[in-house]
Amino acid sequence: MFKGNYWLALVIAATFISVASLTAVPVFAAGDPDFDPPLVPLPAHPPIPADNKSSTAIYPAKMGPKQELGYLLFFDPKLTGDASLSCGTCHHPDTGWGFNDPISRGYPGTVHWRNSQTIVNTGYFHKLFWAGSVTSLESQAPAANKGGVAGNGEDDMMESRLQMTPEYRQRWKEVFGYDRPLIKDAWRAIAAFERYMSQTDTPYDSFLKGDNKALTASQKRGLELFKGKANCVECHNGPMLTDEKYYNLDVPNPVEWTESGLAQISYRFEIYAKGVTEKLYRESKHDLGAYFRGKNPQDIGKFRTATLRYLSYSTPFMHNGAFFTLEEVVDFYNEGGGESDLLNTKTKILKPLNLTDDEKADLVEFLGSMSGEEIKLPFPKIPPIAAFDDWQPKK
Ligand code: HEC
Ligand code: HEC
Repeated sequence: MFKGNYWLALVIAATFISVASLTAVPVFAAGDPDFDPPLVPLPAHPPIPADNKSSTAIYPAKMGPKQELGYLLFFDPKLTGDASLSCGTCHHPDTGWGFNDPISRGYPGTVHWRNSQTIVNTGYFHKLFWAGSVTSLESQAPAANKGGVAGNGEDDMMESRLQMTPEYRQRWKEVFGYDRPLIKDAWRAIAAFERYMSQTDTPYDSFLKGDNKALTASQKRGLELFKGKANCVECHNGPMLTDEKYYNLDVPNPVEWTESGLAQISYRFEIYAKGVTEKLYRESKHDLGAYFRGKNPQDIGKFRTATLRYLSYSTPFMHNGAFFTLEEVVDFYNEGGGESDLLNTKTKILKPLNLTDDEKADLVEFLGSMSGEEIKLPFPKIPPIAAFDDWQPKK
């Protein structure tokens, strides 16, 4: 009995020590006594859900048929209200598959109320959107294209347009086994395409897999700062460089948001729909983030830790696009995050870092190593709606 416990204690201690030394990060980092998953490369492809099977190919390999259908639909304006924009308008290939205004454009007549995120690598997330409000790409796509300030589409209208498109009838037959497109399967094909948009061949991943030359000397110093003095690893960890938890960093609001009447109207429309009190509806000057989901005061102003992948192309940064450069982001953290603390929920983890100019430069260099080559796919040729006679079955 005694002997058993002795060995058990020894094994636990040995495991603890070897995990700590293998990952070379403090297992319990300063300020937040949680376990930080190690920094590891991205798996070869994102998980494929059992109820939406598709090819495991990722860019730049050849797409499978479902991914290819999703690629067309991603850029097809038939899937929005007035057919004047598509997913690809706000997630544009030339701007990191996001939108490069601090606040995204919206449905005609509105602006959005948050920064548009890149869709690259989203297949690896467990929670989507800045406040983590949906948990799968399959449910994210309809939320986007039916949302009032985004796609603003109606199911029956969008579905009819697909059914009037001969090429889709043919592709649906091939991919789903029936030829009268249903909108629910459009979202599933788009999700399959998003999983294709994964990037695993960055210098950072190569370095973690053992290629010591993949990072420059400056980037290696940046990595040490990231894990040590700058303590980024406390929240940015695991294969996606995010713990997918929620924090309020007290990011300042950009003037594009506070000074734009249209942005304020869109924001108030959105939070009214989310059922806030009339007082909040009238007076809120901040995006309350994760609060909107459970109306828990502790969640006010909190956002999901962002991934640090593909940053080289996805400026501006943060939920409100407050920063255009990584230098600004690092300065923000160096000062210990935002200073207003108006919402009283700012994380205690952020502290002034006292980084020297050289250290800041190394950190910025390191952040660049988590982006590979820019993913360039052309706008595809969108299948046209046919004249009535063309899509009736031939007698
Ligand atoms: C009008 C602009 C607009 C359109 C159209 C749009 N999006 Fe977005 N997208 C955004 C914005 C803004 C966000 C962030 C919103 C938030 O967090 O509340 C976002 C977030 C996302 C995310 C979450 C990324 C992450 O890191 O969690 C995914 C995935 C995504 N969009 C895919 C799509 C798809 C697929 C479509 C088409 C079906 C689409 N979007 C249409 C603007 C748009
Ligand atoms: C307390 C947890 C925490 C720590 C520590 C932290 N971050 Fe963040 N990071 C976040 C959260 C949360 C966001 C999104 C915040 C928002 O939009 O309001 C974010 C966003 C970012 C972004 C923007 C990414 C994008 O796509 O918009 C960058 C870049 C970034 N962090 C880098 C760093 C660096 C570098 C460090 C270390 C100096 C660091 N972070 C430390 C939680 C943290």
